[in-house]
Amino acid sequence: MTTSTLNPLRAGLRLPRTPDACALVVFGATGDLTARKLVPALYNLARERLLPGGFSVVGFARRGWSDEQFRAAMKDAVAKFSREPLQDDIWESFARSLHYVSSDFGDMPGYERLGERLKKEDSAHGAGGNRLFYLATPPTAYAEIAHHLGEANLSRSPSGGWARLVVEKPFGRDLESAKKLDQSLGLVFRERQIYRIDHYLGKETVQNILVFRFGNGIFEPIWNRRYVNDVQVSVAETVGVEGRGGYYEESGALRDMVQNHLMQVLALVAMEPVASLHGDGVRDEKAKVFRAMLPVGDVGRATVRAQYRAGAILGQQVPGYREEDGVSPASEIETYVALKLMIENWRWADVPFYLRVGKRLPKRATEVVITFKKPPLQLFREMGGDNIDPAANLLVLRIQPDEGISLRFGAKVPGTRSDVRPVNMDFRYGSSFGVEPPEAYERLLLDAMLGDSTLFTRWDSVEASWELLTPVLDAWLQGASPLRFYDAGTWGPDEARRLVEQDGREWHRM
Ligand SMILES: NC(=O)c1ccc[n+]([C@@H]2O[C@H](COP(=O)([O-])OP(=O)(O)OC[C@H]3O[C@@H](n4cnc5c(N)ncnc54)[C@H](OP(=O)(O)O)[C@@H]3O)[C@@H](O)[C@H]2O)c1
Repeated sequence: MTTSTLNPLRAGLRLPRTPDACALVVFGATGDLTARKLVPALYNLARERLLPGGFSVVGFARRGWSDEQFRAAMKDAVAKFSREPLQDDIWESFARSLHYVSSDFGDMPGYERLGERLKKEDSAHGAGGNRLFYLATPPTAYAEIAHHLGEANLSRSPSGGWARLVVEKPFGRDLESAKKLDQSLGLVFRERQIYRIDHYLGKETVQNILVFRFGNGIFEPIWNRRYVNDVQVSVAETVGVEGRGGYYEESGALRDMVQNHLMQVLALVAMEPVASLHGDGVRDEKAKVFRAMLPVGDVGRATVRAQYRAGAILGQQVPGYREEDGVSPASEIETYVALKLMIENWRWADVPFYLRVGKRLPKRATEVVITFKKPPLQLFREMGGDNIDPAANLLVLRIQPDEGISLRFGAKVPGTRSDVRPVNMDFRYGSSFGVEPPEAYERLLLDAMLGDSTLFTRWDSVEASWELLTPVLDAWLQGASPLRFYDAGTWGPDEARRLVEQDGREWHRM
C-alpha cells in the first residue's frame, strides 16, 4: 500500500476534504517560517493531491525578488526541509502556482499590486475571490498589514468568496498588548475570519488526546479528581536559542511556550466532552477550562524561572544563555519555567496541573503525564513486596518524539514472593500505523482553507491565558520568583524539584 492511500489527512475523514479554489498570500515570504514550514507543507499537500485545482500562492515581502527568484528559493527550501523528498515533476507543476510581490509592509502601492495579482489569479484559475492571508512576519507588523488589507479592500472578498487571516504566534506579549492587537485586527476582520495558529494543535499526537479521551469508553470515567493525583505537561528541548537570541530576549519561555502551546495542551486534557466535533464545541469547552483556572496567587511558591549556564549536551560543550548571540550578558530572561495551576471545577478541584518547559535539557521530549491515585490498601507491601513504586499507575501521552502512549501499572515479579514491579503497556504510532504523520502545518493550512477553525485558538482562550499569566510576569518583574540557574544538560534548577515535592509529588522522569 502506498503512503498516499494511507495519508492520515484523508484517512480519518469520511468525505474527501478538498478546499475551494483559493489564493494563499504569504506575508513574510522570504523569511524562515515560509522556507522551513509553510512551503514544504504546501508542497506535501500538492503531492497528496489535497490542494484544490485553481490554487495559487502569492509571496509578499520586502526583498526585490521576481517570481522566478521566489520559485528558486522555495525549491531549495523544499529540498532541504520537506518530509518527503523533492520530486521534479510534482515540483514543476506546483511551482507554476507561486508568485511574488515585492513591497514594504507599510507601502500602500504594494497592496494595490497585490490586489491586481489576486484579480489575475481569480480570472486565470477561477479562484472565486477566495483568499487566505498568512502573517508569517514579525508580530509588530500584524496590525499594520491588517490595516492595509482593509484599506485596499482585500479583507472582504469580492464576488461572494471568503477572506481569512492566519496569524502566527505570538499573539501579544501580555494581556494589554494582546487586547490591543485583537482590537486592531477586529477593525478589519471579524473573529470568524481570524485563524490564530498554534502549531501544537496541528500535531497528530495532540489531536489524539481528544480521540483517546472521547473515542474510547474506558478512560473518561476515571479522568477526574476521584482517580487522578496530578497532571504534568512537560516540554524538554536540547537546543538553545538557535541564533534567535534577539527574539528570545523579548520573549522568554513563559511567553514563547507556556502561554500558547502548553496551555492549549492542558486545555485538551482538562476539557469536558463535546457533543459534536462540528462548530465551536471544542473551542467552547477549552475556553471554560481557562475560565475555571484559579489565579496563580503566590507566584513565589507556585512558579520557578531559570536560565541555562554553560554545560554539556550529549557530550558536547555548549555556551550559557548569556553568551549566546544577541543576548545581553546580564539578561534576566528565563529559558526554563515550571509552574503549578489549579482548575476549580467539579472534575478537577484539588488536582494540581504542573507545567514545565526548558531549553538545553538532557533530552528532547514533549509529554503529558496523568498520575493516578494509589490503591486504598498497600496489600503487597505487607506481603514483602515493598518495592512497588508509589506512582505505579501512570498514563504517559508522548507528544514527540517517539510518539505514542504508555500505561504503567504494577505487576507481580515471577517467583514465590509477591514482589511488585512497574511495567508498561505501550502503543507507538510508528509501529501501529506504519506511516509518517503529516507535519502540523499541513493539517492547519488545509483546515484554514477549508474554513475549519476547530484547531485554531479563539480570542477568548488567548485572552484568558494572558489574564492568568500576565500577573505572573508582573510579579516576576517585582522579584517574586528570583531567576535561578541550571547547567546546560541538566533537568533544570533544584527549585523546580521542590515545587512538586512540597505537594508530595515528583516530576516524571522523561
Ligand atoms: N521560524 C519559525 O520556525 C517560527 C516558528 C513559529 C512561529 N514563528 C513566527 O512566525 C513569524 C515569522 O517568523 P520568521 O522566523 O519567518 O521571521 P523572519 O525569518 O525574520 O522573516 C520575516 C519576514 O518578514 C519580512 N519583513 C519584515 N519586515 C518587513 C517589512 N517592513 N516589509 C516587508 N517585509 C518585511 C521579511 O522580508 P525581507 O527578509 O525580504 O525583508 C521576511 O520575509 C513570527 O511571528 C514568528 O514568531 C516562526
